[in-house]
Amino acid sequence: MFVVRLLTSDDAVQLRAFAQSDPSFQLSEVSAFFSLEYLHEWLARPEGDLLVGAEVDGELVGFILCQVIRSSWSLWHNFFVARAHRRRGIGQALFDYVIGELRERDVTLCVAFARERDAVAFHVRNGASAGYSFTYVEWRTDQQPVG
Ligand SMILES: CC(C)(COP(=O)(O)OP(=O)(O)OC[C@H]1O[C@@H](n2cnc3c(N)ncnc32)[C@H](O)[C@@H]1OP(=O)(O)O)[C@@H](O)C(=O)NCCC(=O)NCCS
Repeated sequence: MFVVRLLTSDDAVQLRAFAQSDPSFQLSEVSAFFSLEYLHEWLARPEGDLLVGAEVDGELVGFILCQVIRSSWSLWHNFFVARAHRRRGIGQALFDYVIGELRERDVTLCVAFARERDAVAFHVRNGASAGYSFTYVEWRTDQQPVG
């Protein structure tokens, strides 16, 4: 059986190690998931965002990091279940938990990154429509070219 619960800053180290163990989180040649510092800060003060994990025998096997942007829409930065634990209802339980909370707050629009075909199939089953494709780009404010 699995347990779904809110994550706290105590989970930051485990969460980062879990995410880094899967290639899905390699967003580019540079970025691989959030830094520990950022995670600690976010998990300690979620301020309306929803940071939810699923555990089996005390071990993290899935999570959603959902940021509520203003009052009306939410950006799901991560929605992931470990490959060995898929198709057992864990993704649905995480999804339902977050959707329930968002509905209570009248947050109506959800936007998620879906990297694998599995994720798109899941979201379409739950009523999502696929948007246009984008290419992930990233840059740093301290490394802008001098014009
Ligand atoms: C999307 C995801 C979270 C679903 O997790 P899960 O625990 O396997 O989902 P569930 O077991 O709750 O599935 C619920 C239902 O969704 C549908 N579904 C899930 N995966 C599916 C797939 N690969 N193909 C078709 N339908 C699927 C099914 O209807 C399933 O019910 P069923 O197993 O009784 O048929 C998981 O596949 C995943 O982590 N994918 C990768 C996500 C990703 O790329 N993240 C990028 C980094 S954030």
